[in-house]
Amino acid sequence: MKIVLTGSLGHISRPLAQQLLAAGHRVTVISHSAARAKEIRALGATPAIGRISDEAFLTTTFTGADAVYLMITNTNDDQDIFAAGHRQATIYAQAVLTAGVQHVVNLSSVGANLGPEVGALYIYHIIEDVLTHALASTATLTFLRPTGMFYNLLGSLPSIKRDHAIYTNNSVTKRGSWVAPIDIVPIAAQALTTPRPGVTHQYIASDERSYQEIAALLGRALNLPDLRAIQIDDATMTRNLLASGLPQTFTTQYVKMLAYERDSDFYADYRAHHPVLGPTKLADFSQTVARAYHQL
Ligand SMILES: NC(=O)c1ccc[n+]([C@@H]2O[C@H](COP(=O)([O-])OP(=O)(O)OC[C@H]3O[C@@H](n4cnc5c(N)ncnc54)[C@H](OP(=O)(O)O)[C@@H]3O)[C@@H](O)[C@H]2O)c1
Repeated sequence: MKIVLTGSLGHISRPLAQQLLAAGHRVTVISHSAARAKEIRALGATPAIGRISDEAFLTTTFTGADAVYLMITNTNDDQDIFAAGHRQATIYAQAVLTAGVQHVVNLSSVGANLGPEVGALYIYHIIEDVLTHALASTATLTFLRPTGMFYNLLGSLPSIKRDHAIYTNNSVTKRGSWVAPIDIVPIAAQALTTPRPGVTHQYIASDERSYQEIAALLGRALNLPDLRAIQIDDATMTRNLLASGLPQTFTTQYVKMLAYERDSDFYADYRAHHPVLGPTKLADFSQTVARAYHQL
């Protein structure tokens, strides 16, 4: 098959390209950095250098493809993250329609079933909605809904170093669901190469742990037995994120998302369609955190 991947050589798209190429597919990888072309070619894939906001570029790149993998990047900086999500989904939908692509896999997220009450994750509801309305009659559509990426925890490294603490306005005792990007790869590959008919939604997860359990795991890996997960209030979380340089709109919606997880049954739909957990565990990832910690 001829398959086009957005997401450049990122956490998911690099190993996804490698798996698809090893299975004999022809793969084009979209990057917005010309410097990446050489590395993409070295994998055996075809580079397509351009921006995912450029509909004409996408249409040309998608033409002749059997399947495309669509993800969003960099909406965090936008004044209105939901308008940015709507805009990007509309561009994707139009390019897929004009190019006549038959199979679409979208990297969505846990929380995409919910409304504006879920804060930042509402962007995925909007994107799923736009793509479904525009494409459901002409293409198969698979929405992959991974849970929280393991690598989000790297954002806590500065406070781990400074205070031996992971701060969150989420609950520190409720179990959350987490995913290793590498565990998304075989599921995305299967969705691209053997798509199910119609519109499908698929949760992807690797491990289920509370912040307290994660602090204990990381405490062992980092040799910090006093490492703790500490719940802070929404206003303090907001101040901390703004101080770390995150934009205002995204921060507001991010804090709202964690508060929703804390106060509501965020995982109800995930539980109702529970995936088989992937093989990579947070205990494995704690070694990656340890390496990053010692390089700080
Ligand atoms: N964090 C979470 O917990 C979570 C949960 C659920 C879903 N997700 C989704 O997962 C995504 C991240 O996936 P990932 O980790 O595989 O990605 P990633 O490693 O962040 O890689 C994305 C790559 O896309 C390329 N890119 C950025 N802007 C671009 C543009 N305007 N046009 C074309 N290419 C562009 C960049 O590479 P170049 O510089 O080479 O272009 C970047 O390295 C998030 O964006 C989110 O939508 C995240």
